[in-house]
Amino acid sequence: MTLCFATNNQHKIKEVQALLGSDFTLVGLADIGCTEELAEDQTTLEGNSLQKANYVFDRYHVSCFADDTGLEVEALRGAPGVYSARYAGQQRNAFDNMKLLLENLRDSKNRKARFRTVITLREPSGQLQFEGILNGAIIGEPRGAEGFGYDPVFLPEGYTKTLAEMALNEKNTISHRARAIEKLVTHLKQRNLSNA
Ligand code: IMP
Repeated sequence: MTLCFATNNQHKIKEVQALLGSDFTLVGLADIGCTEELAEDQTTLEGNSLQKANYVFDRYHVSCFADDTGLEVEALRGAPGVYSARYAGQQRNAFDNMKLLLENLRDSKNRKARFRTVITLREPSGQLQFEGILNGAIIGEPRGAEGFGYDPVFLPEGYTKTLAEMALNEKNTISHRARAIEKLVTHLKQRNLSNA
């Protein structure tokens, strides 16, 4: 079965292809001739991933899935959430975003936060969503040089290293994205087996 992952990130595609196994052929946006930027102007992660999956399905007539991720901070009532990439402005700069986050949490004792990924699978039979969550806390100063985004200020629950102090392999075993993808892969494999 061929399935499109609505992303241009080859690394993400490779990673998911490895999890899916050879019964599935995963292609990216470039492979289906989609070169336009996909809109992400909804107010929820669910809305954005659905918007991207629907766009690809309606325009390109292929079964596909799309993801969207946000950092949800309890003391900020879920912000930056769906606006995580552009929290400090349209320049989408990770350093500016972290700086603003730490400023906004300066007087807060409650440092609880979570990363949440929502994946929407869109096929002719309909749509399904899968969620992956990584609980943790926002520390006072950035630590570590790996990863991207808010990794240097995010301490996963039960760990003493921030996500940016972990090797990619280690992060990939616990991450919100990995957890959502695992649910998607389990669903696809189970269905494949029951249709065999
Ligand atoms: P996207 O939906 O994967 O593009 O993620 C949106 C934004 O959330 C990114 O631009 C980052 O600011 C943040 N983000 C998503 N995943 C991670 C992660 O694994 N670590 C740190 N920040 C992340």
